[in-house]
Amino acid sequence: MLDFQHAPVSNLELLDDALAGLTGQPKSLPCKYFYDATGAKLFEQICELPEYYPTRTELAIMAASLGEIARRIGPQARIVEFGSGEGIKIRRLLEALDRPAAYIPIDISAEQLALNATQLAAEYPYIEILPLAADYHADLQLPKPQADYHSTVVYFPGSTLGNFPPAEARAFLARMKRIAGENGAVLIGIDLQKDPAILKAAYNDSAGITAQFNLNLLARLNAEAGGDFNLDAFSHLAEWNSAEGAIEMFLISQREQQAHLNGQPLQFAAGERIHTEHSYKYTLSGFAKLTAEAGLTVSQVWTDPEELFSIQYLEPE
Ligand code: TRP
Repeated sequence: MLDFQHAPVSNLELLDDALAGLTGQPKSLPCKYFYDATGAKLFEQICELPEYYPTRTELAIMAASLGEIARRIGPQARIVEFGSGEGIKIRRLLEALDRPAAYIPIDISAEQLALNATQLAAEYPYIEILPLAADYHADLQLPKPQADYHSTVVYFPGSTLGNFPPAEARAFLARMKRIAGENGAVLIGIDLQKDPAILKAAYNDSAGITAQFNLNLLARLNAEAGGDFNLDAFSHLAEWNSAEGAIEMFLISQREQQAHLNGQPLQFAAGERIHTEHSYKYTLSGFAKLTAEAGLTVSQVWTDPEELFSIQYLEPE
């Protein structure tokens, strides 16, 4: 038996998920592990990259259309967001709204949620901030604000829905519809299909930050799941899959090699791929079809002049 050194396993769930993904065929790793502290910092850097258009384009659309968006939502809305609302987008929205009744951020990380909610409550003392620590796959009991509210609007920016495969995206839209209720709505950021060269550059920047972000998965396996991956022997690849309408991210083994997770050997062929994430891009008509399947109608779309990105307002049929 070969003797090798690895850090002790501190994250059993990560170890189990990674072993399942890396012993399967084709190999994959779950994208939910991108966002540890290092990953979150790298993603912030990605959002600033000249090639990564989604964040700045969504903000520009918001800036240009905030008045219209706020009118569409109307007064005294209860805003529910999946994610903990640390960002600039929720602040812009809350500031533009007519007497919002409450803001309910939902996040699985209770700690992060509490931190961000305290910060928001200090900035917006006139809005009830009611954080809900929950897994959004579970059934949710939304907190009731003290103030009267006219409607519930589910806010899901960042085109995060694009990271779900279509069947899951449809199910998630149906969930959001249920939460919004009969006179509610969904306000969602959706990235659009475009010249594949623009897409590929956005997911493979020249400064190499995206590569670092992707490789951070292996760094986490080394630090938390008893891994001994050689990070220099894997490289980042982003590919446009036109049949799927998705950018797909991979880590590619640069040569034939073996790595271990908690002592279990894993074999990689030269050029073998580990699938790490999908980022689905929609056409306006393709997304309208998906929402219809979830019982939601697109009642308004805001885009930038180049139609790179969209913010869409969805209402129950
Ligand atoms: N949600 C982001 C997106 O799809 C995540 C992301 C950006 C990403 N760049 C990446 C994921 C590179 C993996 C690799 O736009």
